[in-house]
Amino acid sequence: MSTPNWSNLTFSYSKTNTILRAVYKDGAWSEVESLTDDNLKLSAFAGCLHYAIECFEGLKAFRGKDGKVRIFRPEENAKRLQRSAAYLGIEAPSVEMFVDMCKRVVKENIDFLPPYEVTGASMYIRPTLIGSNPQLGVQSSKEATFLMLCAPVGAYVGGALDAVDVVIARNYDRAAPNGSGSYKVGGNYACSLYSLNMAHKLGYKAVLYLDPRTRVHVDEFNSSNFFGIKGNTYVTPESPSILPSITNKSLETVARHLGMEVERRPVPVEELATFEEVGECGTAVVITPVHKLVDKPTLESEEETVYTYGDGKCGPKSLKLYNYIVSIQKGEIEDPFGWITFVE
Ligand SMILES: Cc1ncc(COP(=O)(O)O)c(C=O)c1O
Repeated sequence: MSTPNWSNLTFSYSKTNTILRAVYKDGAWSEVESLTDDNLKLSAFAGCLHYAIECFEGLKAFRGKDGKVRIFRPEENAKRLQRSAAYLGIEAPSVEMFVDMCKRVVKENIDFLPPYEVTGASMYIRPTLIGSNPQLGVQSSKEATFLMLCAPVGAYVGGALDAVDVVIARNYDRAAPNGSGSYKVGGNYACSLYSLNMAHKLGYKAVLYLDPRTRVHVDEFNSSNFFGIKGNTYVTPESPSILPSITNKSLETVARHLGMEVERRPVPVEELATFEEVGECGTAVVITPVHKLVDKPTLESEEETVYTYGDGKCGPKSLKLYNYIVSIQKGEIEDPFGWITFVE
């Protein structure tokens, strides 16, 4: 298989050497196998295909300045997958099994790990857990298949740190008030596609959802958390219906470390007018600065209130936080927080 064209990487599927698979059946996990074919043989009656009994994770491996290979906070993803699996009522791998499989998939696909010099490029790791036994009734699957996939990627949207325009969807939600919003289950993403597709048609990169109970507070974007910066304070929503982002938690830690205040609390929509910088945060690009945030009574309506942040580039405080995290990921500075797992 030929080496990827590093300068052209986007956030998209590409074939690598192997994927890993382990199956939970009769109370135990199988040995982990490496498969060169990423087409699975699966019962057409598998619960994942009918009732969305599926959860997944996303994390990254980086080639460091010193040539070493680093994975960013895999234990956190392992724990979040366990939480999602418990919600679906299916078996999850242990933290140790999860982390070992992350390391192994990177090693087996090391030719696809972008070089240190390529800005914004990394190896995206996609752990995926599906209910896989044949079933007809609505019930949690007894058997589960855990897949560890990876692909070399560039920046998720445009280039790293390109500012984007986003829109608030007041007439669409991604999650229910007491629903699955805080779990990384595939069904949440299916439910956000209608409004995301509409936002794309209108020229926006993402939808900012409000809290589904009152629609008074900001929740999060389709695949990233929200943050705003006001003076020396990093503000991010507290809400039961948003995914606990590992990047967001890391940014909060770095913000405190760099002397900023951090507030995690409900963020009323009116407060959007008072931030100096606003961004999306998540594994895919760490930070995507928001340039224009458009609030409409409905996605379909012509009426709009526009909040503008900065001049289309990443604001200085966001940039400082971004650089700190990326420097840890790429081994350019010491990791004072113990976030890195090395792949030997
Ligand atoms: C809905 C949603 N929110 C937030 C995030 C960011 O989470 P993390 O920083 O752990 O990637 C993601 C991406 O995983 C997501 O899909």
